[in-house]
Amino acid sequence: MNKPARGSLLGIEHLEEKEILGLLRLARRMNPLKARPLLRNKRIALLFYEASTRTRSSFEVAAKSMGAITVLVLSSGSSIEKGESLLDTGYTLRAVGADAIVIRHPSAGAPLMMAKHLDIPVINAGDGMHEHPSQALLDAFTILKHKKSFKGLRVAIIGDIYHSRVARSACHLLSKVGVKVTLCGPPELIPEFATTLAPGLRITRHIEEALRGADVIMLLRVQQERLAGKKIHLQDYMARYQMTMARLKLAKRDAIVMHPGPIIRGLELTSEVVDGPQSVIVDEVHNGVPTRMAILARALGKAS
Ligand code: NCD
Repeated sequence: MNKPARGSLLGIEHLEEKEILGLLRLARRMNPLKARPLLRNKRIALLFYEASTRTRSSFEVAAKSMGAITVLVLSSGSSIEKGESLLDTGYTLRAVGADAIVIRHPSAGAPLMMAKHLDIPVINAGDGMHEHPSQALLDAFTILKHKKSFKGLRVAIIGDIYHSRVARSACHLLSKVGVKVTLCGPPELIPEFATTLAPGLRITRHIEEALRGADVIMLLRVQQERLAGKKIHLQDYMARYQMTMARLKLAKRDAIVMHPGPIIRGLELTSEVVDGPQSVIVDEVHNGVPTRMAILARALGKAS
């Protein structure tokens, strides 16, 4: 077993603030419509063991816009269905000439395990309930685009924090750049120990309190597929935590509403909020492409 190859991106937790800011600066210089062919003759395998729309398509567009060849391997329809192990799948992709692997997997730590056994960069596109670093970076990119600086910002993250790799990576990133984060939701979705995840996190069970003074509101889906027997009464959840236009008025007037998707309209937020003037949900998806271009350029050593 080795150290992960340089350029791997396995999580935000172990990145330094200057690496994060460097990636965000690089992402700002990326334009998929006018990209230099930085990844010409590079082959990037996209290995997805879990459902994905935004992450998968934007990694693919990012890679292709810089001239790379992409190979998509899904768990259904590949030898993974026949019982091939994760590592053997990695060795196979390496043997067909992959220069980097982007992987989404239901088990926390799967990308790290693969990175320790392969000599090519591995990029975590979401591992279980652990991390989703490219999402945290594109969200930080989106916040900077709308708010110009992280200085003095207050971010409220509302919803299913416990099951969310998006929230975990976001908390690490926002805490490293000095943003004040308030987590809001019921104890089943935000246990008290969530504050130990990163320095400076605060929990409230009252949405009104989370929204007061917030510059950024980040909403999360209730991940019913990961609840494993835990009971969430959705009607109660909606009554207490659904983001509505009336509740949105409690935040700063210029607050932005974010959501990593997939959104469930009428559950964690109303359609009026999704389509309203403060929503930057579509812009987040859009920003996924330059952010992932920066991640891939860094992975393959073409980041200058
Ligand atoms: C999320 C994920 O898969 O972690 N979506 C995403 O990548 N944008 C969040 C979710 O599934 O709710």
